[in-house]
Amino acid sequence: MKAVTADNLSKTYESGKRALDDVSLSLNQGEIFGFLGPNGSGKTTTVKLLNGMLTPSGGECSVFGVNPAVSPETVHGMSGVITEHAQMYDNLTGFQNLTFFASLFGIDAGEAAQRARSLLEQIDLAEAGNRKLATYSTGMRQRLSLARAMIHRPRILFLDEPTSGLDPESARQANGMIRDLARQDGTTVFLCTHQLRYAEEICTYYGLVDSGTLLASGDIESLRAGLSSGLTVTLRTDRPPVGVEHGKLPDGRYSVQVASAEEIPRLVRRIVEAGIKLYHVSAQRPTLEEIYFALIEQKSTGGAA
Ligand SMILES: Nc1ncnc2c1ncn2[C@@H]1O[C@H](COP(=O)(O)OP(=O)(O)O)[C@@H](O)[C@H]1O
Ligand SMILES: [Mg+2]
Repeated sequence: MKAVTADNLSKTYESGKRALDDVSLSLNQGEIFGFLGPNGSGKTTTVKLLNGMLTPSGGECSVFGVNPAVSPETVHGMSGVITEHAQMYDNLTGFQNLTFFASLFGIDAGEAAQRARSLLEQIDLAEAGNRKLATYSTGMRQRLSLARAMIHRPRILFLDEPTSGLDPESARQANGMIRDLARQDGTTVFLCTHQLRYAEEICTYYGLVDSGTLLASGDIESLRAGLSSGLTVTLRTDRPPVGVEHGKLPDGRYSVQVASAEEIPRLVRRIVEAGIKLYHVSAQRPTLEEIYFALIEQKSTGGAA
C-alpha cells in the first residue's frame, strides 16, 4: 500500500485563488519525502488536504488507503502533524506537554511517561524536559513539537517548515533528529520546506512545486536524469569566458552547463585558446536547488509539460 497518493488533486479557495492545480503523486512507505517550493506554492494546502482539514475542489488523495475527506479521524489516528505554529503550552514543562498530548490519543499515563522520557532523550531535551516551555529557545520548541507529533507512533509524520526560523546549526540538528526518529519507527515523513539545501541532506524522494503545480517528482537520480544539462562546470578565470553561455556566481566564478563530462576538455581548450587565464576548473552534479531552478526555467520557456 502507498503511504500517500494524490490524483489530479486541486484546491481553489473561496477567494478564487487556485492554490493547487492537478497534482498527482504517489509515495512509498518509509520514504522521507521532501515537498519543496517557495512560499505560496501550495505546500501547506496539500498538507491540509491530506489531513482532512480542507476538502479538494478536484481530484482526490489518500493516506495509507484512507480518503481524508471521507474519514479524517482515521487519518488523524495514523498521522502526526507539525504546522508552522505548533500549539503547545508555555506554562507546562516539556515533559508535561508531551504527556498531555499523549493523553489526547488515549495513551495510558505509564506508557505516555515512558514514551515522553525516551523522546526527550532523543531530542536532547532530557534535562530541559523538567522546565516550563516558556523558557525554551526556538530550536528547543521546534524539537519538542517534533516529539509531540511522534508521541503516538504515527505511521506518517507531516512536517510543515520544521526548520523555519532556526539557525543553520539548529536546522541541521533538527533534520538529523527527524531522520533518526523516522528510521527507528519506520515512519513515513512528508516534509514541506522552502529550504532546499537542508532537504537534500535527509530526503529520499522529492516533489518540486511551484504556484500549485508539481514540476517533477522522484529521487535525486531520476530528477537529475530528467534535466537536459548533466553537469555544472565552475571556472575561475581572469575574465568572462567569451563565446560560451555562462552564469556568474556571487564569488566571481563562472558556471557553464554541459551535457556530460566528455564536453569538459573541449570547453577548457576553447577558453584557453581565447587567451583567457584559467585558474581553476571543477565539475559538480546539479544540486536540488539547481534542478529546481532549471525546472522553473523550463516551465517559463514552455519546455516542460
Ligand atoms: N485560506 C485561504 N484563502 C485564500 N487563499 C489562500 C488560503 N490559504 C492559502 N492561500 C493561498 O494559496 C496559495 C498557496 O498557499 P500555501 O498552501 O499556504 O503555500 P505554501 O505552504 O507553499 O507557502 C498562496 O497563494 C496563498 O496565499
Ligand atoms: Mg506553508
